[in-house]
Amino acid sequence: MSVTVVDHPLAEHLLVSLRDRTTPPPVFRTLAKRLALALALEAIRDLPTVEVAVQTPLEPARGRTLGDLVAVPILRAGLGMLEAVTELFPEVAVGYIGLERDEASLQPQSYYRKLPPVDDRHVLVLDPMLATGGSGSAACTAVKEAGTPASIRFVCVVAAPEGVTRLQGDHPDIPIFTAALDRQLNDHGYILPGLGDFGDRLFGTE
Ligand code: PRP
Ligand code: URA
Repeated sequence: MSVTVVDHPLAEHLLVSLRDRTTPPPVFRTLAKRLALALALEAIRDLPTVEVAVQTPLEPARGRTLGDLVAVPILRAGLGMLEAVTELFPEVAVGYIGLERDEASLQPQSYYRKLPPVDDRHVLVLDPMLATGGSGSAACTAVKEAGTPASIRFVCVVAAPEGVTRLQGDHPDIPIFTAALDRQLNDHGYILPGLGDFGDRLFGTE
């Protein structure tokens, strides 16, 4: 499946500030939300729409509306992308998947899962960092276990080649949308050049 690198100048502008180690958590949060907005717009670009009829003050008109959407942030860091999606699509249903990478094995440990019905809905899985791909893959598996969505899209801020290979291998049906495809992982599973630990920078827990 495809990897779309959202190369809009605004996305690049926001991403470089997120990478900057001197950007403090309050600014980081704001920029992350803005970037998530740009990414979400790109991720739904080809979403099927439904024709509707409305009445303008002057005459009948036709238009198109979006189908049912579900957003699934992977806790914690995915929370930094959620508000952009709920503001863009107030009707969106939201599910949560709690995963934490074990520092030694780099395997995701599951600690929470609460998903709304996903059948026939379009699901956006939100996680800013696609590193080894273990967390992203586990989250997509969890969504598939919950039902039969119309589509699943994986939306992230930075992806490593290793993560893309893993996600594409485990879930070839799921397209990836990212602001950057970085060089590689380091020995601790961090993305290079990356932006560090997204969750820590978002919540000030370093
Ligand atoms: C980070 C990130 C992803 C995961 C990516 O979360 O938000 O969920 O690591 O790594 P992977 O692709 O190798 O699985 P982390 O486990 O640090 O938890 P946090 O969001 O609570 O900080
Ligand atoms: N998780 C992060 O927050 N950053 C990385 O570089 C890798 C995993």
